[in-house]
Amino acid sequence: MAKTSELEQQLARIEVEAAAAVEAARTLDALRQAESRFLGRKGSLTQIVRSVGKLPPDQRAEAGRLVNQAKQRLTDLFAGAREAAARRIAETERKQAATYDPTVPAPIRPVGGVHPITAVAWEVQDAFVRMGFVVETGPEAESEFYNFEALNIPSWHPARDAQDTFWLTNELLLRTHTSPVQVRSMRKYGPPLRVVVPGRCFRNEAVDASHETTFHQFEGFLVDRHISVGSLKAFLQLVMREVFKRDVKIRLRPGYFPFVEPGLECDVSCLICNGRGCPTCRHEGWVEMVGSGMIHPNVLIAGGIDPHEYTGFAFGVGLTRLAMLKYGIRDIRTMNSCDLRGLISMDRLTGPALSKGP
Ligand code: FA5
Repeated sequence: MAKTSELEQQLARIEVEAAAAVEAARTLDALRQAESRFLGRKGSLTQIVRSVGKLPPDQRAEAGRLVNQAKQRLTDLFAGAREAAARRIAETERKQAATYDPTVPAPIRPVGGVHPITAVAWEVQDAFVRMGFVVETGPEAESEFYNFEALNIPSWHPARDAQDTFWLTNELLLRTHTSPVQVRSMRKYGPPLRVVVPGRCFRNEAVDASHETTFHQFEGFLVDRHISVGSLKAFLQLVMREVFKRDVKIRLRPGYFPFVEPGLECDVSCLICNGRGCPTCRHEGWVEMVGSGMIHPNVLIAGGIDPHEYTGFAFGVGLTRLAMLKYGIRDIRTMNSCDLRGLISMDRLTGPALSKGP
């Protein structure tokens, strides 16, 4: 044991440290731990108390007095700090109890989710909006002019048979595709323009696993100077990457639509059966997904645009089929079912979910 003056210094240091520890302790638990560091069985002050007995008899009394006084001060310090902390806790609890109103209704947790078609439409739309495209919808009850004639499909044209529709009594028809919005937008905005059109379409045709009378398409078109088939291909690949969040196999082949020249069909490798063949892809391994091509000069003229100055591409994606492939839905008829439990588990809408195949 040190001499009396050294002992006094040692005790003073311990008291300063204890005061700092009390100051730093934010909880009762932290306070208890700090107390045991000084006054516990192996605490720094306890060690000094023990060593007093080993001192020469002439130093023992004075050292004992100093150490006992220090011990009393530390005991008081921690007791006071504990009381203050307990008071603070009680006060906080009292305040919380005063503000708790058991009659307030519980917060409502949202249930369900968006329809798979809406989810896919939002994804594709967002990607195009980021690239400066505007979103147009156009009317579902459309005129014969915009649905057919302005798109280079006069009344005698055989292409009308491929898009048999429902005629309304007021000289309008239910639009068979989202393409009528092409000429509507050209007239509305003039060139250059970039437009996407998510929307519902209707056709009078036999229903099977991949054909419905009511389905959704997603149209995109761009009119500017120096637009080529290369630009179209790049955009089609972008649509697929955006939807499936990975590169999927696509196949371009010549297609015929009177409103484009040249016309291209874009098929996607069937993700339901991984290309092996199933009812969804009509056992071909490929699902016809997009009609596309370079906008026909007659369509540009109908939209008031000079085809010598401007060119453009257009594509129409079968949004319903795209959603089916993305979420592994085998039959298009379930998409319009009112019982969505049979359609898809809603949590799958938050991530890429593809069927493992039959
Ligand atoms: C058209 O509708 C053209 N308007 C697409 C287009 C736009 C071509 C711009 C060129 C330029 P098509 O009839 O192939 O094309 O339909 C496009 C897509 O809609 C198809 O690939 C298919 O995925 C989807 N689709 C067509 N009919 C149905 C149906 N009955 N049920 C579900 N999806 C359908």
